[in-house]
Amino acid sequence: MTTPLLDRFKRPLRDLRVSVTDRCNFRCTYCMPAEIFGEAYQFLPKSEVLTFEEMTRLVRIIVRLGAVKVRITGGEPLVRQDIEKLVEMLRLVEGVDDLTLTTNGYFLPQKAQALKAAGLDRITVSLDSLDEAVFRKMNGNRSSVQKVLDGIAAAEAAGLWPIKLNAVVQRGVNDQTIVDLARWARDKGYILRFIEYMDVGNRNGWRMDQVVSGKEIAERIHAVLPLEPAERSYKSEVAMRYRYQDGGGEIGLITSVTQPFCGACSRMRLSPEGQIVTCLFATQGTDLRGPLRAGASDDELEAITRPGATASTATANFASTKPTAPATPKSRCTTLGDELPGEAPLRHHGLPVAFLEWTLTPAAEQFDSGESRH
Ligand SMILES: C[S@@+](CC[C@H](N)C(=O)[O-])C[C@H]1O[C@@H](n2cnc3c(N)ncnc32)[C@H](O)[C@@H]1O
Ligand code: SF4
Repeated sequence: MTTPLLDRFKRPLRDLRVSVTDRCNFRCTYCMPAEIFGEAYQFLPKSEVLTFEEMTRLVRIIVRLGAVKVRITGGEPLVRQDIEKLVEMLRLVEGVDDLTLTTNGYFLPQKAQALKAAGLDRITVSLDSLDEAVFRKMNGNRSSVQKVLDGIAAAEAAGLWPIKLNAVVQRGVNDQTIVDLARWARDKGYILRFIEYMDVGNRNGWRMDQVVSGKEIAERIHAVLPLEPAERSYKSEVAMRYRYQDGGGEIGLITSVTQPFCGACSRMRLSPEGQIVTCLFATQGTDLRGPLRAGASDDELEAITRPGATASTATANFASTKPTAPATPKSRCTTLGDELPGEAPLRHHGLPVAFLEWTLTPAAEQFDSGESRH
């Protein structure tokens, strides 16, 4: 392997997120609200999206730089046709220790077996509530709870284990259902992570009125299902981790809003159109698709990737500060913070998902240690 990549804050690269599409069959109100992502919304044309071959080649190069964990995400990765073929291709990339995928679960009944057979190690499914009305409200009325539960069951039956669940908590929307969700996940043996809702839908900064802090979430669960803090299991762990006092499992709290962290960030993201970004608040990514399609060699692509990660593309060192949103993040959750002056800013979409995706990995890692992978 070549020298491991460090970004300008000397953080090593470990995790790679591969966004395979900017499209999704859900319209979660906190992510892709229907009023903006409607029929007129222009998603990326197919020609601008990397092919599986292109993605695999770039992943191979990035793995050479130190990434050992690869997470396939989106948009919704299962809307990309034949996604299992990409899994199969990435599985063959030498150096990938952990190959996972984050999904809304809708297509898992059809896809789980194929994903497992293709070599996917495990899966994360987003499920914000077990309450039908609440869940429908949050996903833009695109899915019933049962549909996602069927997906989760299919993943389990296929042997994608451990199953992790992500739940975004929004005050006044689903916070009254978190204990039910925790109890259910605990009974099922699923690892549930609550994610602080990131409201960047306004242009005046971060609003806190709908954010339920990780601390409050833990307290509310603790009142019914006693918890105790679990020790940090590795140095760069940034999420709060609690286990049930009776030994019945753990929950994770992704406190991206109330306890932002960056010092331990070890992530890089490849967007569907081939931009590579190492900081979620980067003002610009590094385009790999152009050089790749122009015939660049692997070594040339690696050289382009390196300065992109080490140069001053981040807007701020927010290791010790509350994040400040860039002025005009690009309007796609799959692309981090590209500033396009003149383009309508859709901050609610561009920023938080990037932020979230960045923050999820450490939380995932903490549960990995000591867990067997079936
Ligand atoms: C963007 S989605 C991509 C993968 C897949 N479509 C899914 O929903 O799992 C990844 C995660 O981001 C979370 N997310 C999206 N917008 C968010 C926001 N504004 N605040 C907190 N989490 C958010 C989702 O709940 C999901 O768990
Ligand atoms: S959170 Fe995932 S499922 Fe919901 S709209 Fe965003 S990409 Fe789609």
